[in-house]
Amino acid sequence: MKKSYFCKRLNETIDFDALKILFCCATRTGPSIDVTGNIHSTDKIIKNRESLIKLLDRGDIPKECIGCFDLQEQDKPKYTGLNIFRKIPKPNTLIIKHFKQCNCSCIYCAEQYISKRKIVLKPQKSDYYDLLPIIKQLYKKKLIEKNNLTVLFQGGDISVLEEFEDLVNVFIDNGVKKIEIATNGIIYLPIIEKICKKTFVDMDISIDCGCRESYKKIKTVDKFDDLVKNLKRYSKLPIQLRLKYILVRNCNDNIEEVSKYIELMKEIGIKISELTIDQCDPEFLENKVFKIPPHYYKIYEFWEKKCKEYDIYPSLWSYLKEILDRGEFFR
Ligand SMILES: C[S@@+](CC[C@H](N)C(=O)[O-])C[C@H]1O[C@@H](n2cnc3c(N)ncnc32)[C@H](O)[C@@H]1O
Ligand code: SF4
Ligand code: SF4
Repeated sequence: MKKSYFCKRLNETIDFDALKILFCCATRTGPSIDVTGNIHSTDKIIKNRESLIKLLDRGDIPKECIGCFDLQEQDKPKYTGLNIFRKIPKPNTLIIKHFKQCNCSCIYCAEQYISKRKIVLKPQKSDYYDLLPIIKQLYKKKLIEKNNLTVLFQGGDISVLEEFEDLVNVFIDNGVKKIEIATNGIIYLPIIEKICKKTFVDMDISIDCGCRESYKKIKTVDKFDDLVKNLKRYSKLPIQLRLKYILVRNCNDNIEEVSKYIELMKEIGIKISELTIDQCDPEFLENKVFKIPPHYYKIYEFWEKKCKEYDIYPSLWSYLKEILDRGEFFR
């Protein structure tokens, strides 16, 4: 009998990127539709997604999904066109990254290649498309979950996206369950104070160091003091605040810097720390395989010990844990 497949990510996600709309998160580079120069209709987005779900259900695998570890075999088909009572699930996760402008230019940032590393100081429209009309249409046509929806703002940086507040307000008005925001934190966002009373807010801020000099080197702007001031304000709000450190080779990959970062967290009172590695590392190596250097393990050991000592939660992405156990990763 022919096998049948399903993918949880495909069943849940729409990822609005600048040049493509993907049907799972971009780390998988899964099936997508090209949106360069197109004014795309929501019907096309939804039909495409549904046909992918049905395709897997019939046992055919789109070429982008071959070998993906999120692909799962299922015993009996869950969603088929034959049984009208079997419904295709509505997307419950939207990833928003259709803009690449940013008010800094981190040396590690892959997104910045697309914006040619130009630093933008004032909010502006996305260079690619406006998302607000698309979201409004998705709600109007009841094509996405309402109360069970999670929205992830990535980017670029939302602090220089003109339609950011309008988008947030539409989600709030429709009863969004959770809003996750990744930002550099350089510009304080007053809207967070308003929305944290209405929905669960998760904020992820990459600082990548613990002092002004290193910050300038990594983020290429002299905004460490502004960020620290904003972190103090955010830390008083009822939100889930995570401060991230990306290990960049030959730059901040040393215990002294990680120590300064942890001390800063303790001083401000931030309770969740994430230590991760530069995902672009394999890109610059001949065979595209990045072997985790031995000193990374020592840094991880130190970080875990310090977090424990200061009662800070050491958040480790499961995918990264696998990479550390394996000792290498590739593109
Ligand atoms: C592209 S950023 C956009 C959001 C925001 N500007 C920020 O920096 O948080 C989205 C997330 O990707 C992470 N990121 C960017 N480049 C990375 C890299 N080379 N390796 C690991 N994480 C990276 C950032 O830390 C951030 O959490
Ligand atoms: S199987 Fe993998 S590549 Fe395909 S939609 Fe799912 S997560 Fe994306
Ligand atoms: S703040 Fe975010 S989008 Fe901006 S350069 Fe850094 S990682 Fe990239």
